[in-house]
Amino acid sequence: MTEKVKVRIDGEVIAATAGQTILEVARANNTYIPALCYMEGLSAVGACRLCMVEVSGVGRLQPACTTPVQEGLAVVTDSQQLQDYRKIALELLFCERNHICAVCVSNGHCELQSMAQRLGVTHVHLPYRYPDMDVDSSHDRFRLCEPSNSRVLSSSIAIDSMSSTPLFPSLILCTDPISSCPSAKE
Ligand code: SF4
Ligand code: FES
Repeated sequence: MTEKVKVRIDGEVIAATAGQTILEVARANNTYIPALCYMEGLSAVGACRLCMVEVSGVGRLQPACTTPVQEGLAVVTDSQQLQDYRKIALELLFCERNHICAVCVSNGHCELQSMAQRLGVTHVHLPYRYPDMDVDSSHDRFRLCEPSNSRVLSSSIAIDSMSSTPLFPSLILCTDPISSCPSAKE
């Protein structure tokens, strides 16, 4: 039989099921905890560290996405300490890759960017690492086009809406708008 437990989240007593994670219980009760690497239906890996919470009786922060609830657990999901920690975790995510939002095609519809806005991260104080990363065009639905002029490659990524297989649209890395790309009109 499924064991029922009572936990306290931000002071509110909540009924939960043993085995549920803190994140699941919080979400089921409309309590927001930041999370980036968690995706419902997939195994939680606890990698991004955005979902860290304070748990009574535990000396260090715990990831809400991988910590199961148990009877009497008391959790704090928001505090100055957590806000500071989450900002640093977010800055680390930004600086380890080439995240320059102003020139990124995901600008305006990006979960990482939205999280930064939500958590008040407007600057990254840590030095960017600028890893030299090749474009992975190995998938057969991905086409890497030669630029039609001398502009720097990788200025935009667009979904090829003219693809004959709508469920798996080709990604085209190209300097030109998709509307003028001959490859998109195949
Ligand atoms: S918009 Fe998102 S993916 Fe693009 S640079 Fe910013 S954080 Fe990175
Ligand atoms: S959501 Fe990423 S560590 Fe919990």
